[in-house]
Amino acid sequence: MERLQKIIALSGYCSRRKAEELISNGKVKVNGTIISEMGYKASFSDFIEVEGNPIENTQDKVYYILNKPRGVVATAKDDKGRKTVVDLIKTNKRIYPVGRLDYDTTGLIILTNDGELTNYLTHPKNNIEKVYVAKINGLISKDDLKKLCNGVIIDGRKTSRAKSKILKIDKKNNSSVVELIIHEGRNHQVKKMFESIGYKVEKLKRESISFLTLDGLKSGDYRALSIKEVKKLYGDKN
Ligand code: URA
Repeated sequence: MERLQKIIALSGYCSRRKAEELISNGKVKVNGTIISEMGYKASFSDFIEVEGNPIENTQDKVYYILNKPRGVVATAKDDKGRKTVVDLIKTNKRIYPVGRLDYDTTGLIILTNDGELTNYLTHPKNNIEKVYVAKINGLISKDDLKKLCNGVIIDGRKTSRAKSKILKIDKKNNSSVVELIIHEGRNHQVKKMFESIGYKVEKLKRESISFLTLDGLKSGDYRALSIKEVKKLYGDKN
């Protein structure tokens, strides 16, 4: 049994605070009866309606992390019929990727059918850390690294503070490998950040999201997340 507002929030219908408001305004029914008391506990198998809409059963939620290979699109469906990240996961649930990775970018991507987690992870205010490793053309300077950290203008707007460090300088091949840690998830953000200071990203991999890493996952491998891991992604707020 869980508090009603928690079940509603977990379903992705709205935030927990909004759910509390809806409960006290008499907008929530459990098995056909309006419930307006705040401490009410319900079960996942109860039939819950919010403003007349039945909410999804949170027990049907699934969560995976995948080590995305190159040459796979990070969408649920592709107009051009290319292989998608969803095709790589055996499930009968309608899952989709949280955020994007480019066709040629590899690494960690989360897939779920949980709208609330998706909103949480993609909202910039929640500051979810993402670690990327980029191989770029040219030998990057400390000054340029500083620029990335302080924020650069992409698509007319400054990126927020980032962390970065040089992992390798390859003078022979005139290339560098740089780790970049960002909290936003703007379109082609990493490539555009390097582009703005004059470098081209030749290879890009996402190594981690929050505390989740690719440990034990080879390219194309995936695993389900445990409930403990899902709760930890929310910063133990649920
Ligand atoms: N930034 C990019 O430029 N591409 C990605 O796939 C992810 C982040």
